[in-house]
Amino acid sequence: MDKGDNYEVKDISLAEQGMMNLEMAEARMGALLKVRERFEKEKPLDGIRVGMALHVTKETGILVRTLIAGGADVAITGCNPLSTQDDVAAALAKEGVKVWAYKGETNEDYYRYLNNVIEFKPHITIDDGCDLVSEIHKKHADMIPEIIGGCEETTTGIIRLNAMEKDGALKYPVIAVNDNKTKHLLDNYYGTGQSSLDGILRATNILFAGKNTVVCGYGSCGKGVATRATGLGANVIVSEVDNFRALQAALDGYRVMPMEEAAAIGDIFITVTGDKHVIRTEHIRKMKDTAVIANSGHFDCEIDVAGMKKASSSSRRVRQSLDEYVIDGKRIYLCGEGRLVNLAAAEGHPSEVMATSFCGQALAVEYLVKNKDSVKPGVIKLPDEIDDTIAGLQLDAMGIKKDELTEEQKRYLSSWEEGT
Ligand SMILES: NC(=O)c1ccc[n+]([C@@H]2O[C@H](COP(=O)([O-])OP(=O)(O)OC[C@H]3O[C@@H](n4cnc5c(N)ncnc54)[C@H](O)[C@@H]3O)[C@@H](O)[C@H]2O)c1
Repeated sequence: MDKGDNYEVKDISLAEQGMMNLEMAEARMGALLKVRERFEKEKPLDGIRVGMALHVTKETGILVRTLIAGGADVAITGCNPLSTQDDVAAALAKEGVKVWAYKGETNEDYYRYLNNVIEFKPHITIDDGCDLVSEIHKKHADMIPEIIGGCEETTTGIIRLNAMEKDGALKYPVIAVNDNKTKHLLDNYYGTGQSSLDGILRATNILFAGKNTVVCGYGSCGKGVATRATGLGANVIVSEVDNFRALQAALDGYRVMPMEEAAAIGDIFITVTGDKHVIRTEHIRKMKDTAVIANSGHFDCEIDVAGMKKASSSSRRVRQSLDEYVIDGKRIYLCGEGRLVNLAAAEGHPSEVMATSFCGQALAVEYLVKNKDSVKPGVIKLPDEIDDTIAGLQLDAMGIKKDELTEEQKRYLSSWEEGT
């Protein structure tokens, strides 16, 4: 571990590689660069301390640079023990950002680093999974009056925030960035769709064509995973608990069945539910020899890994990001220790998709600062106009032109008198 006054990273000499990866990301994040250009001129975040717990990836690095361009002081740690890109963490440290993160963090380091971000006394928190908000509310409630608000990146974080709000426990405003159309309908769908398969491929190099691929959860992420697996020639099976989503999966042409049935016929299993113990030992015992299991949901509780360990007669790491468990004489392969496979075994979402997600984060921070006197504690939505602006920025970045409503069409669409 390399330590400095304001950083703790795996290896500071990786900074040069990290800089090149940051350059690669920057080249594909045109929408976010537009926000950064404006931030540079207007400095809307002057004097604001932003504390972040996000996956420390090259795309997050560009968000950090954007917030700094806006005048903010930034401290960052990871939000998952296996998702940090060590070269990017080193590059950010070299740039003078306060960063504490490495891939393979112990639980102790994970919470120590979160605490470092909390000690930085952020005015704004940016979370992916709600650990920062949760730690602040549980252990540092005294600092809440100084906090303007927070931003949450993912579905699981929103589930936790909604639970906090319901309990009357949430004491500052948090913007549900995940709920932007330009976040969950793009990042969760296209991003998780592609990168989860990328993670499984890097861990196993398995052929998807012809494989029964069981997607657990048919939400924004599950739909993306199912589409991309179909694109690779897989026979997709969906497991769901929600009536409408199960119906949607069936009408989209997938076989829908309970995990108990799917377990026996699946070759590859991918959980993306945000729920706990979706794949349990009783399911794993039914699986075929050499079945592959992966999770792309936020926390590592979707697959009962502890139960799997207990049920196995032996286990070994067969290659990077792939563990083999022998259970009832069958070899079952677990990718990325059951942590989000796209970040544990690959590089997370492609930069293009993170550009719109992180425009959402940057503009949410600006919104909180601008409206600090009126925003109330609770989970709040970013106004639709901002979401729409982000989509426009991304269209521009992609060089795509669209139609505009004529005056006649505007009148027609806002009137009720005109019929057949
Ligand atoms: N890997 C990534 O980079 C990435 C990116 C975005 C979101 N996420 C995470 O992925 C998870 C899913 O996100 P989402 O936006 O798709 O959520 P979502 O709410 O849109 O969908 C989740 C679906 O899972 C279903 N579900 C819940 N429990 C289930 C069970 N026991 N069996 C089968 N289905 C079940 C729900 O009914 C729902 O349809 C969350 O944890 C989210 O934080 C990960």
